[in-house]
This record gives sequence, C-alpha cells and structure tokens, in this order.
Amino acid sequence: MQPPRLQVCWNDSEDEFPLPAVARDIYGPFGFPPPPPDRPYIAANFAQSLDGRVAFADLPGQAGGDRIAQSEADQWLAAMFRAHQDALLLGAGTLRAESGPDGRGYEYGQLPEPWRSYRREVLKLAPLQVIIATRTGVIPSDHRLFASRETKVWIATSASGARRLRSGTHPGAEVFVPNSGDAVEPKALAAWARQLGVRRLLCEAGPELYSQLFGAGLVDEEFRTIAMQVIGQAPSGAPARPTAYGALSFLPETAPWHRIISLHAARPYHLFLRLRRAERPRAG
Ligand SMILES: NC(=O)c1ccc[n+]([C@@H]2O[C@H](COP(=O)([O-])OP(=O)(O)OC[C@H]3O[C@@H](n4cnc5c(N)ncnc54)[C@H](OP(=O)(O)O)[C@@H]3O)[C@@H](O)[C@H]2O)c1
Repeated sequence: MQPPRLQVCWNDSEDEFPLPAVARDIYGPFGFPPPPPDRPYIAANFAQSLDGRVAFADLPGQAGGDRIAQSEADQWLAAMFRAHQDALLLGAGTLRAESGPDGRGYEYGQLPEPWRSYRREVLKLAPLQVIIATRTGVIPSDHRLFASRETKVWIATSASGARRLRSGTHPGAEVFVPNSGDAVEPKALAAWARQLGVRRLLCEAGPELYSQLFGAGLVDEEFRTIAMQVIGQAPSGAPARPTAYGALSFLPETAPWHRIISLHAARPYHLFLRLRRAERPRAG
C-alpha cells in the first residue's frame, strides 16, 4: 500500500505512537487519550460527501463508503486508524451492504502492510477483533470474516438473535447478549467490550448503529473524510441517502460541538478531519 500525498494543515494530536517514518512524515503525531474506566475510548470513521451523506443507499452494490470516498488516501488512513485499535464495531447493515466484488464481503480485521507488521512488532497488539451488532441475527454465514483464521469475531445481539445464530452457521464467531430486550444497548455493549479487554474501539458501523452510540454520548472522536462531491437525495420512494446521524435531532442549546484535532488535505478532492467531542463555544 503506497503512502498518499497528504498535506498537514493542522495536527494537535497526542504524540503517543511510534508511527513508521513514512507515516510520521506525512501525518505528524498520532495518539489517543486514555480510555474511561468503564468502557473503551471510542472513535468513529466515516466518509461523507460535501452534502453530508454517507451512502448511496438506493443503489445496491454501490452503497459502500468507498463509493463516497473514492480515495486511496482514505483507504491508507483507514488502515492506519485500524492498526491502533483493539476492536472494530460494525452493524449488520454495513456487513450486508458491503458485499464486495465476490459477494463475500471484506476481511475488516486484516491489515495491509506496513500496518500489519507495525501492529504486531512495534505496537505488540493482538490481532484486531471485530464486533458485529444485530437484532435479528440475519448475518450472511458465507461472509469471509467467518473463514478468517486471524480475526476474532463477536456477534452482539438480542436473545432472539442469539437463538437464530446458535445454530452454528457462523464458524469461529462467538455470540454475546449484553442486555435483555430486543436490541443491544450502546452502554451495555461498551461496558462488555471493556470487560473483554478492549481499550480502544473504532466504530465503522453505518448511521443506524453509530447514531445510537453518538446519542448515548459514547463517541469520543471522529475521523471524517470529506469527499468534495455532491450526491443529493435518492429518487422519491427509494431508500434515503443518509447522513451519519440517522434520526438524531438537537436544539441550538443542545447541539453537540467538536473541536478540531487535525486536518489533512489530499488535494484537490479530499479533506481528512479528526474531531473530538467538546464543550460548546462561548457565544460571541
Ligand atoms: N460512508 C461511510 O464511511 C460508511 C461507513 C459505514 C457504513 N456505511 C454505509 O452505511 C450503510 C449501512 O447503514 P446502516 O445504518 O444500515 O448500517 P449499520 O448501522 O452498520 O447497520 C444497521 C444494522 O445494525 C444492527 N443494529 C443497529 N442497532 C442495533 C442495536 N441497538 N442492537 C443490535 N443490532 C443493531 C441491525 O441489524 P439487523 O437488521 O441484523 O438486526 C441494523 O439493521 C451501508 O451502505 C454502508 O456501506 C458508510
């Protein structure tokens, strides 16, 4: 994987990780604050269009975030962000929509070089774990994640989802029910992940699951690729092209603010923002 041409516009990150020299040169410092005691430190990664949308949800086979980003720099950075995490979180909707060229999806836990060696030999982290959330338990059993020897897969679900999944059709995956009820509660999921030893969690779910974490105040920071294309709305009657935030709604007094940790440009088409949840700015 070739390093992209990135321009550092601003980088106020913690300087925690000994990035490979080539990455350090183009990205600058990189690190995270320590996690809270009862849950992982949670970051999320989205690519969005200029009009704030994250999926061509009405176009089967073209609904993945890669159609929004259309950027090798985005892929390179996504691998760098993954390399530093203990686990990735996906919703089953993303798993089903991102079926990949052969229909068996992506091996989200497997890193390209140099990140694979760096993670193992420099950071000395165990292989990435992947957590999939589903209410229904409807997850394609031929997904390549379940054939992976490297990636530990967890499925967090409801009791009824677990009944469907326990038929043993998803080899290697462990099913977990963090709470009672029809859906996984974000706080229960985060607490369970921490008990599992996950100190840093990267949410790569789509809007439905991500917006629940965000609404529960569990998203500490965001990696946000802005692709300078305008995708507009889906035709009437087709599934809407969502923003990251689902049905969340705030008032001027309650709208969450973020501060900019870093801004990188891959000119002329992409900006890479890193944001951290913050107090609202004082008026004036
Ligand atoms: N632009 C980007 O960077 C980016 C990033 C990620 C995803 N996407 C795109 O977003 C689209 C998918 O959107 P989405 O909102 O459907 O994705 P999602 O949030 O990843 O998946 C939604 C599914 O997750 C499960 N789920 C959600 N909340 C749950 C809860 N509380 N408890 C248990 N399970 C829960 C449900 O699965 P069941 O239906 O199985 O119950 C639900 O249908 C895809 O097109 C994907 O490519 C884009």
